Amino acid sequence: MTRLVFERGGQCIAELDASPGDALIDVARFHDVPLHWRCGQGTCGTCAVRLQHAAQPQQVQVGRKERNVLLRAGLCSASAAASEQWPDAPETVRLACHLYVGEVPWHISLPDD
Ligand code: FES
Repeated sequence: MTRLVFERGGQCIAELDASPGDALIDVARFHDVPLHWRCGQGTCGTCAVRLQHAAQPQQVQVGRKERNVLLRAGLCSASAAASEQWPDAPETVRLACHLYVGEVPWHISLPDD
């Protein structure tokens, strides 16, 4: 199991364990974490989060669908959307629908309401 800590505004709002391979959006929904989401399928851009973990900084491969959705939602630049490799850093916005729990514990920052 991998430890996940959800935060909003610097305050811990949920702390739980998830199995590697679980979709982050499903973990949040199952545990009633107040993460905003709409489609649950990676197409609307509502479930934006930022991650912090011990393996950062590194590069991460971001799929075309996630990049396009983030661009359409105004959450990344056109130049970022054109690149498959993104910095995996605390300021990088990702979509919970496109993130899968790994072996490293995550701190997940949710946008302020
Ligand atoms: S809820 Fe729509 S992209 Fe995640």
